[in-house]
Amino acid sequence: MRTIAVINAKGGCGKTTIATSLASALAWEGHVVALADMDPQQSTNDWLKHRPENYPALTGIDADAAARPPSDVDTLIIDTPAGLAGNELEQIIKRAQTVLVPVLPSPVDMRAAWRFLSHLQEIRAVRNSDTIVGLIANRVRPQTIIYRELTGFLEGFRVPVIGQLRDSMNYVRAFEKGLAVADLPPYLAFHDWEEWEPVLAWIRSKKSQGKGASPNSLLAAAMQRLTGG
Ligand SMILES: Nc1ncnc2c1ncn2[C@@H]1O[C@H](COP(=O)(O)OP(=O)(O)O)[C@@H](O)[C@H]1O
Ligand SMILES: [Mg+2]
Repeated sequence: MRTIAVINAKGGCGKTTIATSLASALAWEGHVVALADMDPQQSTNDWLKHRPENYPALTGIDADAAARPPSDVDTLIIDTPAGLAGNELEQIIKRAQTVLVPVLPSPVDMRAAWRFLSHLQEIRAVRNSDTIVGLIANRVRPQTIIYRELTGFLEGFRVPVIGQLRDSMNYVRAFEKGLAVADLPPYLAFHDWEEWEPVLAWIRSKKSQGKGASPNSLLAAAMQRLTGG
């Protein structure tokens, strides 16, 4: 089973948004996806409760480290609380093959992310590349050069910037209904799907995990929906 954790010591950077969006996108690709919500605020679990039945199903599982998802689950996504550190952080890192770190494109958040990434690099699983870390620039406004800035600021870290997601009400409106951008119709969310494509491509690639993954893409799945195929 593939385990992907969404982590950043900072709150409000988009962990829950990215965990739920990724879960929905992978479910559209045909993956059997479970979500574990480790945050006492339980936003992901609340989202799951609101998820309508006529969309790809997602299973919520107990966040307990000992909990085993149902055997048909091929991907587990872990949403985490802000302020995760110490042993708890290490345990989650060890459990995941892939860690996504959302970062808001503000100087304060980038500095905080820098500290967090320095800390991650000290964890053995990350040092040994047993767990691969990728950064996502989140809530990026049009015409910002954040991608270049982030890449520059990350120099010295072996952490790729795997994508950037725009600041869009689509995320907010979808979330309220138990949906994510992959569940929205193309006339509303095509731009968001395009932004997710490099993120999903990285997640499918061997370099993010060390073993093979599904060749389907979100766009291919979306085209299938459109053509009724
Ligand atoms: N790309 C985005 N565009 C617009 N709003 C976003 C985006 N990502 C997150 N948000 C909003 O920002 C707030 C914090 O996001 P959330 O995912 O809950 O962060 P975290 O889980 O890290 O605390 C939420 O209100 C969410 O809807
Ligand atoms: Mg959250």
